[in-house]
Amino acid sequence: MQDSRAPALAVRLRGVSKAYHEHAGVRRVLDGVDLNAGAGEFLAVTGPSGSGKSTLLNIIAAIESADAGSVSVGGVDLAGAPEPDSTLFRRRHVGIVFQFFNLVPTLTVRENLLLPLRLNGIADDDRVDILLRRLGLAGREDSFPDVLSGGEQQRVGVARAMVHSPAIVLADEPTGNLDEQAGAPVLDLLRESAEAGATVIMVTHSAGAAAAADRRLVLHHGRLA
Ligand SMILES: Nc1ncnc2c1ncn2[C@@H]1O[C@H](COP(=O)(O)OP(=O)(O)OP(=O)(O)O)[C@@H](O)[C@H]1O
Ligand SMILES: [Mg+2]
Repeated sequence: MQDSRAPALAVRLRGVSKAYHEHAGVRRVLDGVDLNAGAGEFLAVTGPSGSGKSTLLNIIAAIESADAGSVSVGGVDLAGAPEPDSTLFRRRHVGIVFQFFNLVPTLTVRENLLLPLRLNGIADDDRVDILLRRLGLAGREDSFPDVLSGGEQQRVGVARAMVHSPAIVLADEPTGNLDEQAGAPVLDLLRESAEAGATVIMVTHSAGAAAAADRRLVLHHGRLA
């Protein structure tokens, strides 16, 4: 699906730690996470609910900051980069499939997908229809997100993350609301993206989805193994 090779941007984490401070005390979520994900690699991260998988993806995307350690995305420390550089880098090079979709509710399906294209000055609108068709969403282009099922919203979220051919794809449970049949094209798109040179990191609870990846890591007790 990737129509041009993505630039090779590896993801490298060293000693990344993150804790949340609550009334009950400190919740240590990540405790010295090391990770190398190379360009062209499709990596799956599994682990129990609450083990910090979404937190890990948010830190890679610099949506959240780490308490300690280093995060480099294509050699760039996004958390340490000045605004608007980090925002522009993320907009162009990172595609995020959010666990809870985060579609723009006031935009139609088509407009949600056009957003990353327009923001990046990409005129190739055909990709919108190609992606929607492959994900079984043909005919839903003019619907607003709130009338879609959870699984349909999830597939729109996948399409939106991939439509601008990002070099880094961070996918948080991208098949979590899908049966095997609806999930297969999602996994195909992630694999094709990696084959075109992207670095793909997928969080999943599904053994079947994880099996589609090149490599599987488990997040447990704050560490990746
Ligand atoms: N903003 C926050 N403030 C306080 N605690 C948080 C915050 N975000 C996450 N946590 C806590 O950090 C832990 C890890 O959360 P995270 O969402 O990363 O887990 P997860 O592995 O993605 O879980 P799931 O598989 O259920 O999606 C949880 O115990 C959660 O309650
Ligand atoms: Mg999560």
